[in-house]
Amino acid sequence: MEENIQEILLTEAQIQKRINELGKILSEDYRDKNPIIIGVLKGVVVFYADMIRRLNIPCQMEFMWISSYEGTDSTGSVIIKQDIAADIEGRHVLVLEDIFDTGNSLTFVHKHLMDKKPASLKICTLLDKPSRRKPGVTLEADYVGFTIPNAFVVGYGLDYNEYYRNLPYVGILKPEAYT
Ligand code: IMP
Ligand code: MG
Repeated sequence: MEENIQEILLTEAQIQKRINELGKILSEDYRDKNPIIIGVLKGVVVFYADMIRRLNIPCQMEFMWISSYEGTDSTGSVIIKQDIAADIEGRHVLVLEDIFDTGNSLTFVHKHLMDKKPASLKICTLLDKPSRRKPGVTLEADYVGFTIPNAFVVGYGLDYNEYYRNLPYVGILKPEAYT
Protein backbone atom coordinates (compact mmCIF):
# COMPACT_ATOMS: atom_id res chain seq x y z
CA MET A 1 0.00 0.00 0.00
CA GLU A 2 2.55 2.60 1.11
CA GLU A 3 4.86 1.75 -1.79
CA ASN A 4 2.26 3.48 -4.00
CA ILE A 5 2.61 6.78 -2.16
CA GLN A 6 4.79 9.28 -4.00
CA GLU A 7 4.93 11.88 -1.26
CA ILE A 8 3.40 12.49 2.14
CA LEU A 9 1.57 15.79 1.83
CA LEU A 10 0.26 16.06 5.39
CA THR A 11 1.69 14.08 8.28
CA GLU A 12 -0.37 12.74 11.18
CA ALA A 13 1.14 15.43 13.41
CA GLN A 14 0.29 18.25 10.99
CA ILE A 15 -3.29 17.02 10.69
CA GLN A 16 -3.76 16.68 14.45
CA LYS A 17 -2.31 20.15 15.09
CA ARG A 18 -4.73 21.71 12.60
CA ILE A 19 -7.69 19.77 14.01
CA ASN A 20 -6.83 21.06 17.48
CA GLU A 21 -6.86 24.62 16.10
CA LEU A 22 -10.16 24.10 14.28
CA GLY A 23 -11.63 22.46 17.38
CA LYS A 24 -10.99 25.60 19.41
CA ILE A 25 -12.49 27.86 16.73
CA LEU A 26 -15.56 25.66 16.22
CA SER A 27 -16.12 25.22 19.95
CA GLU A 28 -16.20 29.02 20.27
CA ASP A 29 -18.38 29.61 17.21
CA TYR A 30 -20.91 26.95 18.24
CA ARG A 31 -20.97 27.56 21.98
CA ASP A 32 -24.62 27.54 23.21
CA LYS A 33 -25.82 26.54 19.73
CA ASN A 34 -26.24 22.79 20.25
CA PRO A 35 -25.13 22.07 16.68
CA ILE A 36 -25.87 18.99 14.62
CA ILE A 37 -22.61 17.86 13.02
CA ILE A 38 -23.29 16.11 9.72
CA GLY A 39 -20.56 13.94 8.24
CA VAL A 40 -20.59 13.16 4.52
CA LEU A 41 -19.71 9.48 4.10
CA LYS A 42 -17.48 7.74 3.51
CA GLY A 43 -14.39 9.89 3.10
CA VAL A 44 -15.04 11.99 6.19
CA VAL A 45 -15.03 9.13 8.72
CA VAL A 46 -11.47 9.54 9.99
CA PHE A 47 -11.56 13.35 10.06
CA TYR A 48 -14.99 13.26 11.72
CA ALA A 49 -13.86 10.94 14.49
CA ASP A 50 -10.87 13.16 15.30
CA MET A 51 -12.70 16.49 14.89
CA ILE A 52 -15.71 15.63 17.03
CA ARG A 53 -13.41 14.83 19.97
CA ARG A 54 -11.92 18.32 19.82
CA LEU A 55 -15.32 19.98 20.28
CA ASN A 56 -15.90 20.70 23.95
CA ILE A 57 -19.55 21.67 23.51
CA PRO A 58 -22.84 19.73 23.41
CA CYS A 59 -23.48 18.53 19.86
CA GLN A 60 -25.26 15.75 17.97
CA MET A 61 -23.88 13.45 15.30
CA GLU A 62 -25.56 12.72 11.96
CA PHE A 63 -24.34 11.22 8.70
CA MET A 64 -25.38 11.28 5.10
CA TRP A 65 -24.01 9.03 2.44
CA ILE A 66 -23.71 10.34 -1.07
CA SER A 67 -22.05 9.10 -4.18
CA SER A 68 -20.87 11.11 -7.15
CA TYR A 69 -20.75 9.72 -10.59
CA GLU A 70 -18.10 11.41 -12.67
CA GLY A 71 -18.57 10.21 -16.24
CA THR A 72 -16.04 10.92 -18.96
CA ASP A 73 -18.03 14.07 -19.70
CA SER A 74 -17.64 15.13 -16.04
CA THR A 75 -21.34 15.75 -15.55
CA GLY A 76 -20.70 14.94 -11.91
CA SER A 77 -24.21 14.09 -10.81
CA VAL A 78 -24.68 13.21 -7.17
CA ILE A 79 -27.05 10.70 -5.60
CA ILE A 80 -28.07 10.23 -1.97
CA LYS A 81 -27.43 6.70 -0.79
CA GLN A 82 -28.62 7.50 2.70
CA ASP A 83 -30.09 10.71 4.04
CA ILE A 84 -29.70 12.05 7.57
CA ALA A 85 -32.19 10.69 10.10
CA ALA A 86 -32.66 13.76 12.31
CA ASP A 87 -34.96 16.71 11.75
CA ILE A 88 -32.67 19.73 11.34
CA GLU A 89 -35.34 22.42 10.93
CA GLY A 90 -34.43 25.41 13.09
CA ARG A 91 -31.14 23.81 14.15
CA HIS A 92 -27.56 24.98 13.69
CA VAL A 93 -25.90 22.57 11.30
CA LEU A 94 -22.23 22.07 10.54
CA VAL A 95 -21.29 19.81 7.63
CA LEU A 96 -17.94 18.03 7.79
CA GLU A 97 -16.43 16.85 4.50
CA ASP A 98 -13.11 15.30 3.53
CA ILE A 99 -12.35 17.35 0.45
CA PHE A 100 -13.81 20.25 -1.52
CA ASP A 101 -12.75 19.47 -5.07
CA THR A 102 -14.91 20.41 -8.08
CA GLY A 103 -17.59 21.50 -5.63
CA ASN A 104 -20.32 19.27 -7.11
CA SER A 105 -20.87 17.21 -3.97
CA LEU A 106 -20.94 20.06 -1.50
CA THR A 107 -23.13 22.21 -3.72
CA PHE A 108 -25.61 19.33 -3.85
CA VAL A 109 -25.39 18.62 -0.11
CA HIS A 110 -25.77 22.31 0.74
CA LYS A 111 -28.92 22.69 -1.34
CA HIS A 112 -30.36 19.42 -0.04
CA LEU A 113 -29.85 20.48 3.58
CA MET A 114 -31.00 24.09 3.05
CA ASP A 115 -34.34 22.68 1.87
CA LYS A 116 -34.74 21.25 5.37
CA LYS A 117 -34.65 24.81 6.79
CA PRO A 118 -31.84 24.74 9.34
CA ALA A 119 -31.27 27.87 11.47
CA SER A 120 -27.76 28.01 10.00
CA LEU A 121 -25.66 25.82 7.74
CA LYS A 122 -21.89 25.95 7.52
CA ILE A 123 -19.25 23.77 5.94
CA CYS A 124 -15.96 22.58 7.34
CA THR A 125 -13.70 20.67 4.96
CA LEU A 126 -10.39 19.08 5.87
CA LEU A 127 -8.94 19.70 2.41
CA ASP A 128 -9.66 22.31 -0.22
CA LYS A 129 -8.46 22.08 -3.83
CA PRO A 130 -9.60 25.45 -5.20
CA SER A 131 -7.76 24.94 -8.50
CA ARG A 132 -10.21 22.15 -9.35
CA ARG A 133 -13.40 24.14 -8.80
CA LYS A 134 -15.93 23.90 -11.60
CA PRO A 135 -17.06 27.13 -13.24
CA GLY A 136 -20.38 28.19 -11.78
CA VAL A 137 -19.70 26.80 -8.31
CA THR A 138 -20.14 29.76 -5.96
CA LEU A 139 -20.27 27.87 -2.67
CA GLU A 140 -17.27 28.23 -0.39
CA ALA A 141 -16.26 26.35 2.73
CA ASP A 142 -16.58 28.30 5.98
CA TYR A 143 -13.74 26.39 7.63
CA VAL A 144 -10.80 24.81 5.80
CA GLY A 145 -8.16 22.53 7.28
CA PHE A 146 -5.62 22.76 4.47
CA THR A 147 -5.59 24.24 0.99
CA ILE A 148 -3.75 21.77 -1.22
CA PRO A 149 -2.41 21.76 -4.80
CA ASN A 150 -4.08 19.93 -7.67
CA ALA A 151 -2.90 16.37 -7.00
CA PHE A 152 -4.87 13.21 -6.33
CA VAL A 153 -4.50 12.44 -2.64
CA VAL A 154 -5.36 9.40 -0.54
CA GLY A 155 -5.32 8.43 3.10
CA TYR A 156 -6.89 9.72 6.30
CA GLY A 157 -10.27 8.63 4.91
CA LEU A 158 -9.69 9.49 1.26
CA ASP A 159 -9.67 6.65 -1.21
CA TYR A 160 -8.69 5.55 -4.66
CA ASN A 161 -11.13 2.82 -5.73
CA GLU A 162 -12.05 2.34 -2.05
CA TYR A 163 -8.47 1.62 -0.96
CA TYR A 164 -5.95 3.66 1.06
CA ARG A 165 -8.58 5.15 3.41
CA ASN A 166 -6.77 3.62 6.39
CA LEU A 167 -3.44 5.39 5.82
CA PRO A 168 -2.91 7.66 8.83
CA TYR A 169 -1.59 10.57 6.70
CA VAL A 170 -2.60 12.31 3.47
CA GLY A 171 -0.35 11.29 0.60
CA ILE A 172 -0.07 11.82 -3.14
CA LEU A 173 -0.65 8.62 -5.09
CA LYS A 174 1.97 7.57 -7.64
CA PRO A 175 0.60 7.89 -11.18
CA GLU A 176 1.46 4.22 -11.88
CA ALA A 177 -0.91 3.20 -9.06
CA TYR A 178 -3.87 4.48 -11.10
CA THR A 179 -3.74 1.56 -13.51
P1 IMP B 1 -16.24 17.18 -5.54
O1 IMP B 1 -15.51 17.08 -6.84
O2 IMP B 1 -15.91 18.45 -4.82
O3 IMP B 1 -17.70 16.97 -5.73
O4 IMP B 1 -15.71 16.00 -4.66
C1 IMP B 1 -16.31 14.74 -4.78
C2 IMP B 1 -15.63 13.70 -4.01
O5 IMP B 1 -14.55 13.25 -4.80
C3 IMP B 1 -15.01 14.05 -2.67
O6 IMP B 1 -15.92 14.04 -1.60
C4 IMP B 1 -14.02 12.92 -2.54
O7 IMP B 1 -14.66 11.77 -2.02
C5 IMP B 1 -13.59 12.69 -3.97
N1 IMP B 1 -12.29 13.32 -4.24
C6 IMP B 1 -12.04 14.51 -4.80
N2 IMP B 1 -10.72 14.74 -4.88
C7 IMP B 1 -10.13 13.64 -4.35
C8 IMP B 1 -8.75 13.25 -4.13
O8 IMP B 1 -7.79 13.96 -4.42
N3 IMP B 1 -8.58 12.05 -3.56
C9 IMP B 1 -9.60 11.22 -3.19
N4 IMP B 1 -10.88 11.55 -3.36
C10 IMP B 1 -11.13 12.74 -3.95
MG1 MG C 1 -16.17 12.19 -0.12
